[in-house]
This record gives sequence, structure tokens and C-alpha cells, in this order.
Amino acid sequence: MDKLVLTGGARLEGTIVSSGSKNGTLAIMAGALLGKGETVLHNVPAIGDVRTMMDMLRALGVKCEEYPKGIVRIDATEIDVTEAPYELVKRMRASFCVLGPVLARKGYAKVAMPGGCDIGARPIDFHVKGIQALGAYVNIDHGFVEAECERLCGTEVYLNFPSAGATQHIMSTACLADGMTVIHNAATEPEVTQLTDFLTAMGARIEGAGTNTVRIEGVKELRGANYEVPADRMEAGTFAVAAVITRGDVRIEEVQYDDIEPFTLKLREVGAIVDFADNCMRVRCNARPMATDIMTMPHPGFPTDLQQPFAALLATAQGTSVVTENVYERRFRYVNELIRMGADIKQDGRTAVINGVVKLTGVQAVASDLRAGAALVCAALGAEGKSEISGIEHLQRGYENMVEKLKALGAQVSAVPDEQEKETVFV
Ligand code: EPZ
Repeated sequence: MDKLVLTGGARLEGTIVSSGSKNGTLAIMAGALLGKGETVLHNVPAIGDVRTMMDMLRALGVKCEEYPKGIVRIDATEIDVTEAPYELVKRMRASFCVLGPVLARKGYAKVAMPGGCDIGARPIDFHVKGIQALGAYVNIDHGFVEAECERLCGTEVYLNFPSAGATQHIMSTACLADGMTVIHNAATEPEVTQLTDFLTAMGARIEGAGTNTVRIEGVKELRGANYEVPADRMEAGTFAVAAVITRGDVRIEEVQYDDIEPFTLKLREVGAIVDFADNCMRVRCNARPMATDIMTMPHPGFPTDLQQPFAALLATAQGTSVVTENVYERRFRYVNELIRMGADIKQDGRTAVINGVVKLTGVQAVASDLRAGAALVCAALGAEGKSEISGIEHLQRGYENMVEKLKALGAQVSAVPDEQEKETVFV
């Protein structure tokens, strides 16, 4: 494995193009299983999680080919296998969402249960409730979820929490059910709307995407579709934070303002100058940011996936900030690493109180998960001296060409083999 070696202090300046949305792509690739015929996806990010989902589709006997320039072709006319292997679901939770589409196409599906992960338990009870409500018999045994149903029937489902994944999973599955399905308290994340646009291109009948009530009129069959994946709002937000931390001037192209409005409004609150023109987000900051409070919530609340990089920004802001993580129970695993860089943070449960310090210092650090890694990179960009960040395989799951993009903006960063990886530490 590699590690990042990064020397802080450079002002990031210039323009990058945001890659396609990781979370949008993963839901859409699972949805492609519903269609008989070829689906062609454009602007698919070349990242670890997409490769895992491609492996999953192939494991189901579905044709799935990656081409240059972010093109992925999927042909789910035939689904030869109805069981999804544990090792793929273990690698990436989102691959669990093939359950409903395979069930809808084949009348049976068996998928390993995703484990918890670095940020929380992440149960799948809402997903199971929805699949059962559509008429499936669901058996959970030996770590696998088995679902069986000759013909799915439209239903009404209420989600206790507006879960993005459960909304996407139930919505996709309901496309091939008989009759109308209504999802109440549905998630309104942009990735739900992106999936809806894709499914509609396949011939699905869906209304209300982007609101808390989504209606799906089942159809007999869906076809393949062409679809261009929109930009990744989490990648754009991460680079925007890096621009502020380094007092830089960065343009991020292909960003839809509506997708990133909550984050943008908070960035302006700390004193950043954020402008949008023709889907290009320009972020400038020439003074030390001010403290502010962050409370993560389902969309249109502040996105939980940008809580970590934003906290890295608040670590050197003027004043005291309170960060409350309302979506996941364990999303502060980067805090100890920031403290080792000199941050003054007191974290208790779902809240972290951050007293801004003038400067952080570079350290050797470990990324524990995707967005924690993003926080460490942002902190290191503004820190004094050199940082070495290992565990960057987490970053490579969700950020396409992060090192190249940072270099293009003037960062002093490179990926080098992580010699320490070979040492075994006994504690
Ligand atoms: C999606 O995860 C994203 N992942 C996450 O991004 C993102 O943080 C999350 O939505 C919230 O926006 C992908 O799209 C692949 P949830 P998802 O279901 O669908 C609880 C990243 O960094 N819950 O909205 O799994 C759950 O435990 C990743 O890119 C249940 O209790 O998120 C959590 O507390 C991380 N039961 C809350 O809901 C369920 O059946 C929100 O989870 C499902 C969820």
C-alpha cells in the first residue's frame, strides 16, 4: 500500500474538474440490474468502490465492462447468479443494494449482510422492511439475507429515518412491482434524484423524487439506458475546504449549486468567498476563517460526509465551534489524529467542541476511513511542515486522482510505498 507524503503551506490555486459522484454511481449500477438491454454510463469515477460494484455485477453473471474516459457498459439482460458473495459485500456496504433488483428480476436473491463499518453500526432494517412490504419472504440466517417472491406488489412504506440507501433500494425494487408504491419520509439527497433520473430513462414511472414522499408506479419491464453521472458533491466540498485552509483560490468545475447549497452556506459563514457560474464553483479565502457550528442532518441539512473535512477547517478557525454528528454514531475517528497535529478538540459522543488554534503541525497519521482521510489531507495542507498519511486505500475508494488534482493546484504531495505497512505492531 502507499502513503501520502504532504508538505503543508502551499496556497492552492487553479482549476480542477470534479469527478462523477461515487454515491450516485453505486446506486445507479445496482439499478442497472433492473434493465433488459445495455446501459451505458458516462463520467463514472475510476475509484475502488466502483470497481467493487463492477465485480459484484460480474459475480451475478451480468456483463460489465469499463472503458476509457469514465464509460461503463452494463448489460443485465441475463442475471445468471442470484447469490452475492460475502467478500464483496464485506468490502463495500453499498453492494448490498443488489438484493432488491435481483429479487425483482429473478424472484429470489441471497446477499450477505453488510457488517458495521468504521463510522457506525449501519443496520439494514429499513431495507429489509421495504423488501418485505413489497411482498417478499425474507429470511436472515448465517449472515445472509435471503428474499423470495414470485411477484412483488406495490405497497406503502414509512422510513423511521430518511435513509438514502433504503430509499434508493426500495425505489429501485418497486419499479418492477405490480401497482403503486409510496415511500413516506423518503431521503431527498441529490443521489436519490440522480437514481430516479436514471431509472426513468430505463422506463420507470417515479414521481416525487427529491421530496419526502416518492411514488413508484410499477411496470412490467425496464430497458437499459444511457446516463451521465453528475459531479461528486463530496469531492467538490473536500477541495473547497482545502482551498479555504490554504487561503487559496480554487475553481471546481461541473458542480451543481443545488447539490451543495447547505455546505456552501456554511462555508460562507466562516468567511470564504464562494461564487458559482456555469456549474463552476470558485472558492477563495484570504483571511483566517471564523468559527461556526455544524449539525449534520439528512439533506437538505449539512451533509455528514463533509463533516470531517469541515472540522479540519474549524481546527484553525478563530473561536470555538461545536460539531454535532446526527447521522452516524462513530464519525469522529479523525479527531485524535487532528489532536496529534495540535488541534484543541474535545469530543464526547456525537459532539466535538473545537477551539481553533493558529496553526497545526505536520505529523505521521493514519486514515481510519474515507472521509476521516479527507479530513487529515485537508489539515495537512494547511499545517506547518511535512505529514505522512497512511491508510490512503480508504481515500482511493472514493476520490478519483486526488493526488494528481492536489498537485495540479500546487500542493506539495506524493504517494509513496508505505514501508511501515510491513512492520507488525503487537500491542
Ligand atoms: C449513503 O449511505 C452514503 N453512501 C453515505 O456516504 C452517506 O453518508 C449516507 O448515505 C447519508 O447521506 C452511499 O451512498 C454508498 P443512510 P447509506 O441509509 O445509504 C441508519 C460516504 O462517505 N440506517 O442514509 O448507508 C444508518 O445507520 C458514505 O460516501 C438504519 O438505521 O446511509 C445511519 O445512521 C458514508 N437502518 C442513517 O440511517 C437502515 O436500514 C443514515 O444512513 C439504513 C440506515
